[in-house]
Amino acid sequence: MRKNIVFFVMVLFIVTLLYTFSRKEFVPIPADEQHIRVSTKEKCLECHAQDKVSPLKKEHPPQDQCFECHKRANG
Ligand code: HEC
Ligand code: HEC
Repeated sequence: MRKNIVFFVMVLFIVTLLYTFSRKEFVPIPADEQHIRVSTKEKCLECHAQDKVSPLKKEHPPQDQCFECHKRANG
Protein backbone atom coordinates (compact mmCIF):
# COMPACT_ATOMS: atom_id res chain seq x y z
CA MET A 1 0.00 0.00 0.00
CA ARG A 2 2.76 2.45 0.95
CA LYS A 3 4.55 1.63 -2.29
CA ASN A 4 1.45 2.54 -4.26
CA ILE A 5 1.26 5.94 -2.63
CA VAL A 6 4.92 6.67 -3.31
CA PHE A 7 4.44 5.60 -6.91
CA PHE A 8 1.38 7.79 -7.27
CA VAL A 9 3.17 10.83 -5.89
CA MET A 10 6.07 10.30 -8.29
CA VAL A 11 3.80 10.01 -11.29
CA LEU A 12 2.02 13.17 -10.26
CA PHE A 13 5.36 14.94 -9.88
CA ILE A 14 6.58 13.91 -13.33
CA VAL A 15 3.33 14.88 -15.01
CA THR A 16 3.45 18.30 -13.36
CA LEU A 17 7.05 18.73 -14.44
CA LEU A 18 6.30 17.87 -18.06
CA TYR A 19 3.29 20.15 -18.02
CA THR A 20 5.34 23.08 -16.74
CA PHE A 21 7.98 22.54 -19.39
CA SER A 22 5.51 22.24 -22.23
CA ARG A 23 3.83 25.47 -21.16
CA LYS A 24 7.07 27.46 -21.25
CA GLU A 25 7.65 29.84 -24.08
CA PHE A 26 10.78 28.92 -25.97
CA VAL A 27 13.03 31.87 -26.59
CA PRO A 28 13.56 32.20 -30.35
CA ILE A 29 17.06 32.15 -31.76
CA PRO A 30 17.90 35.79 -32.53
CA ALA A 31 18.23 36.59 -36.23
CA ASP A 32 21.54 38.39 -35.88
CA GLU A 33 25.07 37.96 -37.23
CA GLN A 34 26.06 35.60 -34.44
CA HIS A 35 23.23 33.19 -35.09
CA ILE A 36 22.28 33.37 -38.74
CA ARG A 37 24.81 30.83 -40.05
CA VAL A 38 24.91 28.46 -37.11
CA SER A 39 23.25 25.10 -37.74
CA THR A 40 24.81 22.59 -35.35
CA LYS A 41 24.60 22.08 -31.63
CA GLU A 42 28.41 22.00 -31.39
CA LYS A 43 28.54 25.52 -32.84
CA CYS A 44 25.87 26.77 -30.44
CA LEU A 45 27.85 25.47 -27.51
CA GLU A 46 30.97 27.33 -28.59
CA CYS A 47 29.20 30.39 -27.18
CA HIS A 48 26.55 28.94 -24.90
CA ALA A 49 28.49 26.37 -22.86
CA GLN A 50 29.09 27.13 -19.20
CA ASP A 51 32.37 29.04 -19.45
CA LYS A 52 31.69 30.84 -22.73
CA VAL A 53 30.37 34.33 -23.64
CA SER A 54 26.68 33.56 -23.07
CA PRO A 55 26.34 30.56 -20.76
CA LEU A 56 23.02 28.80 -20.36
CA LYS A 57 21.28 29.21 -17.04
CA LYS A 58 21.78 26.36 -14.61
CA GLU A 59 18.09 25.51 -14.81
CA HIS A 60 18.15 25.30 -18.60
CA PRO A 61 16.40 22.11 -19.79
CA PRO A 62 18.37 19.19 -21.28
CA GLN A 63 20.85 20.51 -23.79
CA ASP A 64 20.44 18.19 -26.75
CA GLN A 65 18.85 19.24 -29.98
CA CYS A 66 18.71 23.02 -29.63
CA PHE A 67 16.45 23.30 -32.68
CA GLU A 68 13.72 21.10 -31.27
CA CYS A 69 12.83 23.88 -28.88
CA HIS A 70 14.41 27.04 -30.25
CA LYS A 71 13.06 28.20 -33.58
CA ARG A 72 14.56 31.00 -35.60
CA ALA A 73 13.12 34.45 -35.14
CA ASN A 74 11.75 35.86 -38.38
CA GLY A 75 14.03 38.28 -40.14
C1 HEC B 1 29.21 33.51 -31.84
C2 HEC B 1 28.62 33.14 -30.53
C3 HEC B 1 27.23 32.51 -30.52
C4 HEC B 1 26.81 31.38 -31.21
C5 HEC B 1 27.63 30.48 -32.16
C6 HEC B 1 25.45 31.15 -30.82
N1 HEC B 1 25.04 32.13 -29.95
FE1 HEC B 1 23.16 32.32 -29.11
N2 HEC B 1 23.71 34.12 -28.29
C7 HEC B 1 25.01 34.62 -28.26
C8 HEC B 1 25.01 35.81 -27.43
C9 HEC B 1 26.25 36.67 -27.11
C10 HEC B 1 23.65 36.00 -27.00
C11 HEC B 1 23.12 37.09 -26.08
C12 HEC B 1 23.16 38.44 -26.73
C13 HEC B 1 22.04 38.58 -27.70
O1 HEC B 1 20.87 38.60 -27.29
O2 HEC B 1 22.33 38.69 -28.92
C14 HEC B 1 22.87 34.94 -27.58
C15 HEC B 1 21.49 34.77 -27.40
C16 HEC B 1 20.78 33.60 -27.71
C17 HEC B 1 19.39 33.37 -27.43
C18 HEC B 1 18.41 34.36 -26.84
C19 HEC B 1 18.59 34.47 -25.37
C20 HEC B 1 17.59 35.45 -24.81
O3 HEC B 1 17.61 35.61 -23.59
O4 HEC B 1 16.80 36.05 -25.57
C21 HEC B 1 19.10 32.10 -27.84
C22 HEC B 1 17.77 31.36 -27.73
C23 HEC B 1 20.30 31.56 -28.41
N3 HEC B 1 21.30 32.49 -28.32
C24 HEC B 1 20.40 30.30 -28.95
C25 HEC B 1 21.46 29.86 -29.73
C26 HEC B 1 21.44 28.63 -30.49
C27 HEC B 1 20.31 27.60 -30.49
C28 HEC B 1 22.62 28.59 -31.17
C29 HEC B 1 23.04 27.53 -32.21
C30 HEC B 1 22.16 27.53 -33.39
C31 HEC B 1 23.39 29.77 -30.81
N4 HEC B 1 22.64 30.51 -29.94
C32 HEC B 1 24.67 30.07 -31.27
C33 HEC B 1 26.11 34.09 -28.89
C34 HEC B 1 26.11 32.98 -29.73
C1 HEC C 1 13.82 20.89 -24.17
C2 HEC C 1 13.77 22.17 -24.89
C3 HEC C 1 15.08 22.94 -25.07
C4 HEC C 1 16.23 22.50 -25.68
C5 HEC C 1 16.52 21.14 -26.29
C6 HEC C 1 17.14 23.63 -25.66
N1 HEC C 1 16.55 24.70 -25.03
FE1 HEC C 1 17.38 26.53 -24.70
N2 HEC C 1 15.73 27.12 -23.63
C7 HEC C 1 14.59 26.38 -23.44
C8 HEC C 1 13.68 27.10 -22.57
C9 HEC C 1 12.30 26.61 -22.11
C10 HEC C 1 14.31 28.34 -22.27
C11 HEC C 1 13.79 29.45 -21.38
C12 HEC C 1 14.31 29.21 -19.97
C13 HEC C 1 13.84 30.27 -19.02
O1 HEC C 1 13.08 31.15 -19.39
O2 HEC C 1 14.30 30.17 -17.88
C14 HEC C 1 15.60 28.32 -22.96
C15 HEC C 1 16.51 29.36 -22.90
C16 HEC C 1 17.69 29.42 -23.64
C17 HEC C 1 18.60 30.54 -23.69
C18 HEC C 1 18.43 31.85 -22.94
C19 HEC C 1 19.28 31.86 -21.69
C20 HEC C 1 18.83 30.84 -20.67
O3 HEC C 1 19.65 29.99 -20.27
O4 HEC C 1 17.66 30.90 -20.24
C21 HEC C 1 19.62 30.20 -24.52
C22 HEC C 1 20.84 31.03 -24.90
C23 HEC C 1 19.38 28.83 -24.98
N3 HEC C 1 18.19 28.39 -24.43
C24 HEC C 1 20.21 28.12 -25.84
C25 HEC C 1 20.08 26.76 -26.13
C26 HEC C 1 21.08 25.98 -26.82
C27 HEC C 1 22.40 26.51 -27.35
C28 HEC C 1 20.59 24.70 -26.92
C29 HEC C 1 21.28 23.47 -27.53
C30 HEC C 1 22.57 23.12 -26.93
C31 HEC C 1 19.28 24.69 -26.28
N4 HEC C 1 19.02 25.95 -25.81
C32 HEC C 1 18.44 23.58 -26.20
C33 HEC C 1 14.36 25.11 -23.98
C34 HEC C 1 15.28 24.32 -24.65
